Formats: sequence, structure tokens, C-alpha cells
Amino acid sequence: MSKAKFGMIGLGVMGRNFLLNVADSGFKCVGYDLNDEKVNALNEEGREFDVTGVDTLEEFVGSLEAPRNIMLLVPAGKIVDAVIADLEPHLEAGDLIIDGGNSHFPDTERREKELNKKNLEFLGVGVSGGAKGARLGPSIMIGGKKDVYAQVAPILEAVSAKVNGEPCAAHLGNGSAGHFVKMVHNGIEYAMMQLICETYDVMKNGLGMNHAAMSYAFDRWNKSSLNAYLTEITAAILTKEDDLGDGYLVEQILDTAGQKGTGRWTSEVALELGIPIPTIDAAVTMRQISALRDQRLALSEVIEKSSAVGSEKFGTDELGRILLGAYVVSYAQGFALLAEASKEKGFELDFAEIAKIWRGGCIIRASLLEEFRTIFAETPSIENLLFDPGITKTVSEGRKGFLKFQAIAGRGGIPVVAYSSGYGYFDAITSGRLPANLLQAQRDYFGSHTYKRIDREGTFHTEWED
Ligand code: 6PG
Repeated sequence: MSKAKFGMIGLGVMGRNFLLNVADSGFKCVGYDLNDEKVNALNEEGREFDVTGVDTLEEFVGSLEAPRNIMLLVPAGKIVDAVIADLEPHLEAGDLIIDGGNSHFPDTERREKELNKKNLEFLGVGVSGGAKGARLGPSIMIGGKKDVYAQVAPILEAVSAKVNGEPCAAHLGNGSAGHFVKMVHNGIEYAMMQLICETYDVMKNGLGMNHAAMSYAFDRWNKSSLNAYLTEITAAILTKEDDLGDGYLVEQILDTAGQKGTGRWTSEVALELGIPIPTIDAAVTMRQISALRDQRLALSEVIEKSSAVGSEKFGTDELGRILLGAYVVSYAQGFALLAEASKEKGFELDFAEIAKIWRGGCIIRASLLEEFRTIFAETPSIENLLFDPGITKTVSEGRKGFLKFQAIAGRGGIPVVAYSSGYGYFDAITSGRLPANLLQAQRDYFGSHTYKRIDREGTFHTEWED
């Protein structure tokens, strides 16, 4: 009997769906999990395909063709190390472990080195698209040695999403490049989600729109340049009725957001690299504030807020332009971070390629990515998407309407932290002069930190006190 070409460890929803996708693409597969129910679920769901679920590592490894291609889709962190430690004794030189989870990039760098020393190969791979994407076509961001990727490229490209026939899977760079790019993808995901939430808050509480009108707006935007997976699902979420009571389900959901870490890691590394990504930071912060529910409830009792609903009207298209500008700024921040990381870490990232594989399958897929791809293909060295005149025009258009939007939010005390940071970033990065001159004077005043002048060379210090 022929051996399997691809194995999966971790048969939770993501792992099972990914493996069924591999099997559906014509590759013989095997899956392993400690949990019998998950193994049975694979055997049940995979009846039509050449896929088997097994419950011992011996059987799993023994049924794979050498050199073995073994993917892990298990929760990031210690579990990945534990699974690798269990698996290792069963492997032979040249076998490949692919970590397809949301691992933190320093872990990926460490794991690749450790495994290479033992003559085992390793790829850190970011997979985006949720359970449905895993089954029908995710976006796959591959990091590690290019020649090692070549061994599994036909499989990963076959299972990935396709846009105009092009696979949304690519080798992006050495070492942790795949997981780094996936982390930044998630940072952008956080920013877009928060922007959408703030839009909903202003629409509902500032403009007094009902669910049908809000859903209509998102649906209409999704048919325009705001076309994006997150825009699309929001239209559907807003009119989903509550099956346990009256009204809309979203209004019954507790307003505390969870997070597994990828957004925070994006902010942390951006701070280290000195690249500002304030919209992503704001999104992380707002998730943290949402989690402080008890404090929020207590303070909301003592702080009086005026009613936000006023007489202003917003056309759907005008509102959409504000959201579009802020989406663009979020991507611009993410790509700027990737540009710096590429230099610092020697990833040699191809931004046109990243935009290409983000066009389909992943959570931040959007029509905008086709435009970004063209910009990066034409000007690979562009430092920030905002240097493109078309992009700047889109953000400037959004910024015009944002002033009214901000006033409505401000009147009712509706927090629009991600929006403010996005347009604030735009204002700052397009300012020829910032008030940092005063800041330098303050530093020199209290700490003799010195300053430079605009009218002559040299370093200066002033005795500020008479
Ligand atoms: C994806 C998602 C996926 C997952 C996030 C959620 O690209 O498919 O990003 O990886 O939904 O890990 O992260 P939080 O739990 O931090 O929101």
C-alpha cells in the first residue's frame, strides 16, 4: 500500500479541515491526535478521501513516505515544543516539521535552529482564514529554507486559496519570515476590526441608525472599494437575529474582547524596531480596555455623558470613505513595519508577493490588496504606501469626513481611538514640522540632553534658567 504524502498532528477544527483540504486536493494523508473523538471525526468526515486518522505516533510516522512532511496545527506556545519533543524520536534525518500555528516568531527561530542541528527540517508557516479557509483555501505565509519549502510547495499551493488562478501561498523569506508576516497580518486584522467596531458605535449611538441601515451600509461598502472579508461578515453579523430572545444577537454579546497575543506581539516588536503603528496599538489597547468591564461599569455610573445622537446626517458613501481611509492607513502601518523587519532580520521580503497572497483566503483579504500589489510591483523600494499619490488621495478624502465623524463621537463620548490614531498618524507623518522642537527644549532644560538647530550645524545646550 502506498504511503501518505502529508501528515497532520492536531486534529482540532483547523487541523482537521486543513487535512481534509489536502486530501481533497488529491494527496494521500494521515492525521494524528491524542483525542480519540477528533481522530474519529477525521475518519468520519474524510470518508470520501484518501485520509486516515490514527491514535499512535508510531502508526502515524510509519504510514508517512520519507522524507516525511508533518504539519502541526496545535495551540501556539509550550504545546508546540511538547509535540515536537514527542515526535522527534520517531523521525529520521531529512524529515520535515511544519508549524502551521500562530507561533511567536522568536520561538520559530529557536525551533528551526534546534531541529536543524538534529538533521531535521523545519518551516514556520502562517495560515490564515479560520476553519472555513483551512478547508476551502487559506492564505499560507511560508518561512524557512526555500529548498525545503520546494518539497511541500505543490501541496501547500494546491490547498491555498486562488485569486484569478494564482495561489495565495508563497515562500516569503528565511527563518521566521512566515510567522512574522502572519503576526503583522493579525495586527492589521486587529486594526480593521476595531475600526469597524468604532464605525458601528458611531452609526448606532451617534447617528441613531438601526441594524438594517447599518447592515445595508456595510453590504454596500463591500460592493465598493471597501470590499473586504471583514466588511462582508459585519453586514451579516449586524442583522443576525437572536435565537435565544428578541432582537439582534450582537446586542446580547458581552462587550469584552479576547486576544491570543498576536496583536500585542506586533505592537511590541514595532516599538522595538522604532516603527509607529498607532492604529494597531490602539486596537490592542481597546481590547484591553474592553476587558476592564468592572472598572468601566463603575466609572460609567459616575461620569455623565450627554446623548450622542444629533441631527447630523452622513451619506453611506461619505461614511464609507472615512472607513476606507482608515483601512488604508492600517495596511500602510503594517507594511511599514514589515519593511523595517525585513531589513533588520534579513528576510528580503517581497511586498508585492505578500499583497498577492493576502488577496484571498485570509481574514484581511480586501480589494485594496490588488492596488497595493501593483504599487509594490512598480516601486518595490517604497518606504510607506502613503508615498503613492493615489493612496494619499484616498486617505485625504477620508480625513475630510473624519472631522465631522470625530465631532459626533466627541459629543457623545464615543471612543474612536483607532480612528483618531489612524488619522493622527496620517497628519503626523505628513507634517514637515512637528512640535518636537519644544520637546527637545524640555529635554535639554531638565536633563541637558542637547538639541540641534535648523539654522546651523552642531549640537547645542542652553542654560534655560536665568
Ligand atoms: C486568521 C486569524 C486567526 C485567529 C486569530 C485570532 O488569520 O485566520 O488571525 O489566526 O482568528 O488568532 O486572534 P485573537 O484571538 O488574538 O483575536
